[in-house]
Amino acid sequence: MQNLNDAKLLKTASYIDGCWVESDAQLSVCNPAGGDVLVDISDASPAQAEEAVLAASKALAAWSGKTAQQRSVLLRAWYDLMIKHQDDLARILTLEQGKPLAEAKGEIAYGASFIEWFAEEGKRIYGDVIPAPGIDKRILVIKQPVGVVSAITPWNFPNAMIARKAAAALAAGCTFVVRPATQTPLSALAMAELAARAGIPAGVFNVVVGSDANGLGKVLTEHPAVAKFTFTGSTAVGKKLIAQCASTVKKVSMELGGNAPFIVFEDADLNAAVQGALVSKYRNAGQTCVCTNRILVHQDIYPQFCEKYTQAVAELKLGSGLDQDTQIGPMISAKAAQDVDALVQQSIAQGAKLVLGGSYAKQGDNFYLPTVMTDVTNDMPIACNEIFGPVSPIIRFSDEQHAIKLANDTQYGLAAYFYSRDIGRIFRVAEALDYGMIGINEGLISNATAPFGGMKQSGNGREGSHYGLDDYLEIKYLCLGGMEQ
Ligand code: SIN
Repeated sequence: MQNLNDAKLLKTASYIDGCWVESDAQLSVCNPAGGDVLVDISDASPAQAEEAVLAASKALAAWSGKTAQQRSVLLRAWYDLMIKHQDDLARILTLEQGKPLAEAKGEIAYGASFIEWFAEEGKRIYGDVIPAPGIDKRILVIKQPVGVVSAITPWNFPNAMIARKAAAALAAGCTFVVRPATQTPLSALAMAELAARAGIPAGVFNVVVGSDANGLGKVLTEHPAVAKFTFTGSTAVGKKLIAQCASTVKKVSMELGGNAPFIVFEDADLNAAVQGALVSKYRNAGQTCVCTNRILVHQDIYPQFCEKYTQAVAELKLGSGLDQDTQIGPMISAKAAQDVDALVQQSIAQGAKLVLGGSYAKQGDNFYLPTVMTDVTNDMPIACNEIFGPVSPIIRFSDEQHAIKLANDTQYGLAAYFYSRDIGRIFRVAEALDYGMIGINEGLISNATAPFGGMKQSGNGREGSHYGLDDYLEIKYLCLGGMEQ
């Protein structure tokens, strides 16, 4: 792990109760671009996860007892340090995750923006006074932190998915324990180092890195001291974790899988739609829950769109994330690339036409070529599964109702996109799509001020925005009696 300006950002042990806690076992963190081991780090046990939960529980009273302004100052200092160390954090992120350095820098800024935003919004946790049914009473509503929050976060956004959860939790007055993905723990540990430098007290923000997914997961979802559990990852794993949370009736928020349709109507600005689909699909090599999964194009413009889009995809540069001109990095693992290839080959066997890519790249087993497929139907494996890779299946539709039917024909409901210049259609389609987030003439929709989250089996709860703060707050009703004059 060479070339960091601040070598102390590279940490190799879990961060529990303000200390770097070693363990006997080790796990290797590898570079997906070459497979080489970047560093060996301590592999925390379930007992260490429990220590982290107890530390968060011990720290809760003092942290929730601070004023919102006091917490805001500390969060703001954390934000400032993330921005100051943006280059190093981005380098660590690219080395362990693979995304191009420019995208990694973007992710650090994106992650930090949640900390900045919630540092401010924490000051606006207002209560309410409700007119009472009798003159002898007053009804007051106050909001309080839920308590200790535990989290499991994914490898595709190793900084921003932690920041989005932790910033809201800490601003609300909760304390926090996160288990980051074992593929990408270094970004999480660097965030902990900066939290400590910012003056966030011991026990408020804890990071437990361990390969025993079941053991650590059990502590984080079942420990009675944890009040709320939050997860970003697949729908299949999310369902199991929700079930585990049931025994102690924890609050849960789930940001799960997606199958985003990207609809191009016949009245769309075609060039804008091509650019929108490109950024939405190929961000992070297609390994994003809100990535376009299926492109639905009106039959009258299908040939023109496919031609322009394929040309644009063919120009994307694949390579190591550290190379200046790379736009698409490796996938997280060879297994991930194999899974994508299986969907591509099965769909070709069912009649889809391969017009670009469709195989591994010369750079190695983790690299999959940017791929475009036409004549795809909604029931083919490449369309009805979450691809999580750099493949664009293009489907034809005949009219607005047909497009909406195809778009909604999935268990998922995270993000959807459409391009149209007809204002009536814009409202009709936006209201008819069963998705939590809709990009209209826009392919990139994520930011700290907007509510991020899904419907159906894409999860529940929202992150980011003032709605995201509510997920970390309890509503308490105070009934004040004996007020008669
Ligand atoms: C995700 O893939 O889960 C997050 C993507 C985003 O925040 O835009």
